[in-house]
Amino acid sequence: MRARVFMVGITAAALVVACKRSAADEASDAALALTTARLDASAVLADAGAPAAKAAASSAKAATAAPAPTSPDPYGVAKTASRASCAVLGGKHVAERDLKTSFVDGDDLLAIVNRAPTGQLAPDYAPSDLVDIRNGKPLSASECERFQCLRREAASALDELLAQMKKEGFPGKVESAFRSYGNQCGTFGNWSRKSNFCEATEQSALPGHSQHQLGTTVDLFTEEWAKDPRGVFREGFGCTDAGRWLREHATDYGFVMPYPIHPDDRHPRQKCVARWDIPININPRTGYRFEHWHIRFVGKDAAARFTKALAASGVGTPHEISVEQWLRSEKGLVGPDAELPVCDGCNCGACSTLAAPGENACDKKGGALHLDAHGKPLVPSEAPSIEGVAKGKGRKWRGKVVEVKLDVPAGTITQTPIVGLDGAGYTTGATFDALAPYPETEPRAYAPLADAWVVAVEPAPNDTGVAWPYRAGIAPAITGQIYNRANVLLPARGGATTLRVPIPSGVRKAKVVLLRGGVAHGQERAVELD
Ligand code: DAL
Repeated sequence: MRARVFMVGITAAALVVACKRSAADEASDAALALTTARLDASAVLADAGAPAAKAAASSAKAATAAPAPTSPDPYGVAKTASRASCAVLGGKHVAERDLKTSFVDGDDLLAIVNRAPTGQLAPDYAPSDLVDIRNGKPLSASECERFQCLRREAASALDELLAQMKKEGFPGKVESAFRSYGNQCGTFGNWSRKSNFCEATEQSALPGHSQHQLGTTVDLFTEEWAKDPRGVFREGFGCTDAGRWLREHATDYGFVMPYPIHPDDRHPRQKCVARWDIPININPRTGYRFEHWHIRFVGKDAAARFTKALAASGVGTPHEISVEQWLRSEKGLVGPDAELPVCDGCNCGACSTLAAPGENACDKKGGALHLDAHGKPLVPSEAPSIEGVAKGKGRKWRGKVVEVKLDVPAGTITQTPIVGLDGAGYTTGATFDALAPYPETEPRAYAPLADAWVVAVEPAPNDTGVAWPYRAGIAPAITGQIYNRANVLLPARGGATTLRVPIPSGVRKAKVVLLRGGVAHGQERAVELD
């Protein structure tokens, strides 16, 4: 990890810039008044990561797609804890309601535990069948503060796995197993002190959000790797013989690896490390940096299903699924391919919260995606509007720029692609349904997501073969730099906002409109670009 510190610095700085740029919108955020209507998650119009042709088809179908019936509680029934204390969160990073509300049934081997408010375990949750991993002796959660524990079934699978690793010639070393809420608070605090709060969130889960609390997850290295005085959490473990073996064989023992390198971010020649030329550290599908040592027991049958689904998804392509996406499909959850992090004041361009407007750390820094009591996104009753369109300056961009002035109600939802003069743009021949997040990445689709607003530009006449081919989410370009590799709902930048959409130089005249879920809303505006 530490070897990549300089990249971490760039990312963190970029995020600060994102928050500063958004601060200009604070005044309008103060008028935050969400008159909300529930957005039914089942109304998401197309699955994320679909091939371009499929996205175009979905886009055409968007106006008629009927929402499928869905449970009112797709993430589980929310419980409120009387107390959820962790000093490092200090009452200022995470809103009280996000801290105290949990949805996840920890006893479920396929529980979705992630960075989202809906991916939180109750502070007092601990499995009831914890055992000491050395000898299988049952221990209480508090005894497991002193010994490494897992749930009984996971411990016995780990035993088998460790025996095989020994036979292969690389004896394993468990660094960490079950961690209670309190223990995770301490672990997160340590990372936070080593770097800072926001960097810590990229590699360490907030308490309640760690899969270690499930008692089915271990950080597994080898005895050899652990001898290095720099500590075990170093990049490169995935390139060792043991790391490669685990990638191929952990599923045989019922374990999956939830935190891979995003396919776009793999080094072109060495897939076991991330590329160095792009300052992006987290995988937008997980919200964390990659961890080739973090393995989670889901059972042999389930792990075999994951292996099959992974192979079918297209390993190495943008459509390669993550464990999280697979778990979502196992549970019949449709929707964007990532749940967004809880609002902790760090990545405000992509936070989500159960707290009321104004009660979370991101509302003053560019907005937040607000969720209802069932964990579903809320949408404001007011729509965004176009206040003006003009030819913009193409500084840093070889093509032309359409400048669109917007008035965006607080709480508006947008989605990828986020384009900007510094981020992905529309070169000749590119359209929104085949746009590369950054150079040397495979173009992909950004299928419309229900209730997500984007600005759309179409050349007049339109010779691209795609309706509204140039689309832009209402978010700062830096958010796109992080999230364009996933198709996700994001909080839109609220208030009076100017979006600059880079389009190809050949366009002489264009139309501009707002799309909601891929469908045009309101008056079209025309703009001369010569
Ligand atoms: N390192 C992983 C994200 C955890 O803290 O659970």
